[in-house]
Amino acid sequence: MNNLPNNYFVLNSIGVIHSPYKNKAPHQPLVNDQGEFKIILNKKYSEGLKLLDTFTYIYVIYYLDKVIRNNEMIISPPWANQQKVGVFASRSPNRPNPIGISVVKILKIINNTILISGIDAFDGTPLLDIKPYIEDLDAKKDANYGWVEKGNNEDHLALHIQGIPHKH
Ligand SMILES: C[S@@+](CC[C@H](N)C(=O)[O-])C[C@H]1O[C@@H](n2cnc3c(N)ncnc32)[C@H](O)[C@@H]1O
Repeated sequence: MNNLPNNYFVLNSIGVIHSPYKNKAPHQPLVNDQGEFKIILNKKYSEGLKLLDTFTYIYVIYYLDKVIRNNEMIISPPWANQQKVGVFASRSPNRPNPIGISVVKILKIINNTILISGIDAFDGTPLLDIKPYIEDLDAKKDANYGWVEKGNNEDHLALHIQGIPHKH
């Protein structure tokens, strides 16, 4: 038992994400991104990686530690074409609990280091969890694009995902 209120949780980071990005990153992970991307898991959790290398992709869950919090519930994400959307209808890093989730490819696991494909997290981002991404369980064949589709074509979306500056 502790004396914390029951809506207050303490999470410990279980490792660190390393990427070439210091303060600017793509808006979502790019599987063919260039550079070194890796997760260093705290050594005490190494045994928990057993058989993770049997999967192609993983979910990486992390704490967006550098976010400047303003707790706005209605936002206009960069690819929303001026639409106002609720924070929970967005993938904005600025949310009540600044938790990020990215699906990345496992390239290699060496001891407590997981070499991964590109991730949209800054270098040094605290790692909260890793889970296998499982085809059929996780890929929903009838998923749509929601509001993102309005006024965006594929090329335009790609610019936003990669964080490439452009005119509207
Ligand atoms: C739009 S968020 C999406 C994160 C994740 N893929 C998701 O959907 O939950 C990605 C952006 O978060 C920001 N970011 C990455 N690492 C961060 C960190 N450690 N603290 C604060 N912001 C971060 C970068 O600006 C990056 O472009």
